[in-house]
Amino acid sequence: MTLPLFTSPAQAETASAVPTLVAHRLKKSYGRGKRRFEAVRGVSLTIAAGEVLAFLGPNGAGKTTTIKMIGGLVRPDAGQVSIAGLDPHRQASALKQVGAVLEGNRNLYWRLTPLENLEYFGGLRQVPRRTARLRGRELLDQFRLADKQNTPVQKLSRGMQQKVAIAMALIHQPQLLLLDEPTLGLDVEASETVKALVRAIAASGCAILLTTHQLDVAEELSDRVAVIRNGELIAQQPTQTLIRQFSGSAYQIEVAGELDLERQRQLAELGAVIADQQITYAGSATELYRLLDILRPLPIQEIRQERADLTDVFLKLVRR
Ligand SMILES: Nc1ncnc2c1ncn2[C@@H]1O[C@H](COP(=O)(O)OP(=O)(O)O)[C@@H](O)[C@H]1O
Ligand SMILES: [Mg+2]
Repeated sequence: MTLPLFTSPAQAETASAVPTLVAHRLKKSYGRGKRRFEAVRGVSLTIAAGEVLAFLGPNGAGKTTTIKMIGGLVRPDAGQVSIAGLDPHRQASALKQVGAVLEGNRNLYWRLTPLENLEYFGGLRQVPRRTARLRGRELLDQFRLADKQNTPVQKLSRGMQQKVAIAMALIHQPQLLLLDEPTLGLDVEASETVKALVRAIAASGCAILLTTHQLDVAEELSDRVAVIRNGELIAQQPTQTLIRQFSGSAYQIEVAGELDLERQRQLAELGAVIADQQITYAGSATELYRLLDILRPLPIQEIRQERADLTDVFLKLVRR
């Protein structure tokens, strides 16, 4: 089975005139000679303003390397990156348009307070101190950390530290936010808070690239999904379209009471399969009414259509 796993460029263009991020055929190898290893093999991604792209793939697939190339931290062997029209590998000003919270890296000074961290980090990104303090307060307020602004970061919970790390990535008001595993190691409540923040940040117009192993998080937050395996993209699609493609189209119908032989015969003629009180029917939505006519007037208890979730889709894709 071949599925149209990539949205055509024409479709992508109608979504937004100029995407905030355009990564074009990025490549990166590590090591030399016999030990040379191609970690990323021609990956192209786009993200529009206000859009969340979930970047998924098994361990070692090349997600972090790709994110680092986009964020200007690892130089690609080939390919181009454009963030709000600027190349982070050639134009330092492009870095003003990117904020990043990288995997396992808290980026925070443990002895400093959230506000001090924000001021310091703002300084690194050429935000005037006064502006950084004002914005820092606003961010902490928005992130419900106002009462912790003067508590050393090391005394905060893991979830609060993660929120401070995200606030820091936003202090210079970037147009693109890179989040590598933002909910890793957080408890349910802290994860919920971070998810709500990601939504709010996207709603403010920021483009977000998100990697996560928590596919329920990806399904909830993302507008589109890109799946990478062995350094190559194997899908890039709107999240719901991808899930629909992998969802079975069969209907499950449950009726109360016995199905007489005549009904059983008619149902079989339509191609339905009967087991106990459960009828499975893989026909179209219009044909479904013919089946319902046959069942009339038996009480119908349930009609549902099988639906995949992002976990099913992901497992099928990476096992192909
Ligand atoms: N600095 C490095 N030196 C050598 N190999 C690396 C380096 N960074 C990553 N790799 C290798 O590149 C591949 C992709 O890694 P990575 O981008 O971290 O994947 P992911 O984030 O999807 O788990 C892995 O096989 C990893 O071992
Ligand atoms: Mg990684």
